[in-house]
Amino acid sequence: MSFIIAGTGSCAAQTNIDNTFFEKIIDTSDKWITTRTGIKNRTFLTDESLTDIATKSAIAALEEACISADELDFIICATLQGDYIMPSLSCMIQKNIGAHCPAVDINAACTGFLYALDIADSYFKSDKVRNILIVCADNMSKFLDFSDRSTCILFGDGAGAVVLKNGNSLKYINITAHGDKEILYIKGTQHKLPFIEKSMQEKDDNYLKMDGQKVFKFAVSTVTEDIKRALSDSNIDSSLIKYFILHQANQRILECSQDFLKEVPEKFPKNLNNLGNTSAASIPILLDELNKTKKIKKGDLILLSAFGGGMTSGTAIIEWSY
Ligand code: ACO
Repeated sequence: MSFIIAGTGSCAAQTNIDNTFFEKIIDTSDKWITTRTGIKNRTFLTDESLTDIATKSAIAALEEACISADELDFIICATLQGDYIMPSLSCMIQKNIGAHCPAVDINAACTGFLYALDIADSYFKSDKVRNILIVCADNMSKFLDFSDRSTCILFGDGAGAVVLKNGNSLKYINITAHGDKEILYIKGTQHKLPFIEKSMQEKDDNYLKMDGQKVFKFAVSTVTEDIKRALSDSNIDSSLIKYFILHQANQRILECSQDFLKEVPEKFPKNLNNLGNTSAASIPILLDELNKTKKIKKGDLILLSAFGGGMTSGTAIIEWSY
């Protein structure tokens, strides 16, 4: 026995930033960004905190699942970094919603949702829990170098959540890691030991660095391989999948996967045009949108697939249960 998804919730940041904003600060154009990425708009946190939007998405998911925070047995939060290094974002959410269960943050970059589902699966299988809250939330704008035109246009801030209950919806899940810090990374804060001369201390540079073309190649090869393996290992024909819900990084990555699977674009929903790449939050936000607009129905099979820094990847097939 594993889990069913019993409720979804999401919350984008409040401040809309369209491509024209970037035309004013870097050498770029709405046309370049749209044709190379598919992104027109993204939202940034300005007046609210990551904890605020993560909490809102959690409350929405709990309401839909019709359970109280008290009934939660575990909270897993996938994030690159919460508002505080400590307490964790999951502990901040736990306090805000009034839960009393254990809470932990995990970091698998944009693959965070798949990693969280995989961990949750093990908890359900070992009978340790009845209800788990997963919240995926990332504040990518704080890691962006707004003078680097090849990265700052890509990302947005957001949060998405699901409540899981005991059940049998999970048909397949697999996660991978290929340790590599060269093509996509954000450096941590440098130590400043008092006995090391100031001039010898490394300067903090906590901005996201990326070799876009290499990440693109990794994404296309990994996502297509992962999907192929998911379908064959689960013995599910791709025609039975209602939606391929892929990490929202670049429209062209979605199109390559779609061509590879010889599937129609309608089976690859997207929201990256409006929200950009919201890292770990991208799949749960999209899932919530599809759920709230009643595009997914009981019995539908959906395939989720993500890739991200690490480099990590993950794929799951889930039968929708309500
Ligand atoms: N505006 C205008 N020109 C630009 C911009 C911009 N915003 N960014 C780059 N360029 C220029 C480059 O400088 C280069 O110019 P040059 O030919 O004079 O040197 C030219 O455009 C082509 O650059 P490429 O890097 O080849 O552009 P590409 O078509 O590969 O697109 C992009 C770049 C959008 C970053 C693409 O490689 C990509 O999407 N990669 C994957 C990124 C990704 O998935 N990131 C997510 C990481 S995982 C996670 O989600 C955390």
